[in-house]
Amino acid sequence: MSSIAIVFFSGYGHTLKQAEAVKAGAAGVEGAEVAFLQIDSDGNLPESAWETLAAADAILFGSPTYMGGPAWQFKKFADASSRPWFTKAWKDKLAAGFTNSASTNGDKYSTIQYFWTLSQQHGQIWVGTGLLPANGKANGPADVNWTAGFGGAMSISPFDASPDEAPRSGDLETARLLGERVAQLAGRFAKG
Ligand SMILES: Cc1cc2nc3c(=O)[nH]c(=O)nc-3n(C[C@H](O)[C@H](O)[C@H](O)COP(=O)(O)O)c2cc1C
Repeated sequence: MSSIAIVFFSGYGHTLKQAEAVKAGAAGVEGAEVAFLQIDSDGNLPESAWETLAAADAILFGSPTYMGGPAWQFKKFADASSRPWFTKAWKDKLAAGFTNSASTNGDKYSTIQYFWTLSQQHGQIWVGTGLLPANGKANGPADVNWTAGFGGAMSISPFDASPDEAPRSGDLETARLLGERVAQLAGRFAKG
């Protein structure tokens, strides 16, 4: 058995869809238990969610990219994680991250880098996508890893697209594959 926690914020529902794809990927791995922890609009989590995070083998961080970084609600959560930081409660847990934004680039890699830094402050072990980029002439949003994220899963939701329309199929599959990868690795770690 391994336990995977997905902790994320979503302002308007697009990153929520990406998080659901991550969850589907992790939940499809035999022996994986998945906790879905959504940070609320005030940047808070219930106490039970902090307990779930402390018990997890792997934590996936998710946030939309707002103004070139994670949303302030995610940062509030990150600052509150100084409490488990004091006791090294997340040390040696796997970590990974995903973000969604409107532009093809939109500086969303800054958000992934922030997640990486947070994970390293906690002494976690970072897991990237492990995916090749889909960067040929014929490639587009229906392809896996069209945004070419190695450090984390990145999706594009055009500013005028509803969460029913975006992130699009390739980005959701990319997120699903990240969730699956983290759960598979967590399973290997749990076996020792
Ligand atoms: C305050 C704010 C700042 C934003 N900044 C960026 C940005 O820096 N780069 C970008 O590509 N999109 C940016 N966007 C667009 C959002 O990332 C995009 O709408 C995303 O799909 C929202 O995800 P959500 O529905 O989970 O909140 C911004 C949106 C808002 C509301």
